[in-house]
Amino acid sequence: MKVIVVGATGTIGSAIVRNLSGPHEVISVSQHQSEIKVDISDIESIKRMFTRIGKFDALISAAGPARFGALQVLQDEDFDFSLRNKLMGQVNLVRYGLDSMNDKGSFTLTSGVLGRSPVPGTPALSLVNGGLESFVRAAALDLPRGIRINIVSPGWISETLQQMGKDPATGTPADTVAQDYLRCLEGNMNGTTVIPA
Ligand SMILES: NC(=O)c1ccc[n+]([C@@H]2O[C@H](COP(=O)([O-])OP(=O)(O)OC[C@H]3O[C@@H](n4cnc5c(N)ncnc54)[C@H](OP(=O)(O)O)[C@@H]3O)[C@@H](O)[C@H]2O)c1
Repeated sequence: MKVIVVGATGTIGSAIVRNLSGPHEVISVSQHQSEIKVDISDIESIKRMFTRIGKFDALISAAGPARFGALQVLQDEDFDFSLRNKLMGQVNLVRYGLDSMNDKGSFTLTSGVLGRSPVPGTPALSLVNGGLESFVRAAALDLPRGIRINIVSPGWISETLQQMGKDPATGTPADTVAQDYLRCLEGNMNGTTVIPA
């Protein structure tokens, strides 16, 4: 399969690329570091990426920043940034990628644990993650030509906790979470939010 991985240079995305390479043709895309670049907050940039890549079988997105901060602290710009990047960025990958996707292809997006189990200081992230999961459930009902869509909702990744100076043992290694993206790619599920063990 020809698989686009958006966010391919990130903690989760690089693990997905590592675990996909071999059986699949992987097109790595990121905002700054890959040969093929995209800014998912910019629709014209998304369109240029799909024009350059042409037909493909699957897209996995592990990209999309959103802002932490308490409700009383978050500014309009923080909500706007979170919605434009993590939420609408991934939604627009689906909207503008659909016509270039081959029959029976699949989209796999990324949300996160804060959508279902928020902690203080996360209303923008929780909003975005919950919105993405609802979008995936509904979009699955509309997608044509046997195309599927699913979303992985990771908890904290061990490598990220380590970078933050926290105990990595309380998280899940990126390579383990990558297996859930592979299950979405290679299985039959549709409209599903996959919660890594
Ligand atoms: N890490 C965790 O513990 C964790 C837990 C739950 C959910 N998540 C979610 O998983 C996703 C990936 O997390 P991560 O920790 O792997 O992130 P990361 O290490 O910061 O990597 C982010 C990746 O996305 C790309 N990117 C950033 N902004 C972009 C944009 N506007 N357009 C296109 N690509 C963009 C980056 O490209 P460049 O490197 O080229 O800049 C990089 O490849 C995020 O949505 C995050 O909220 C992460």
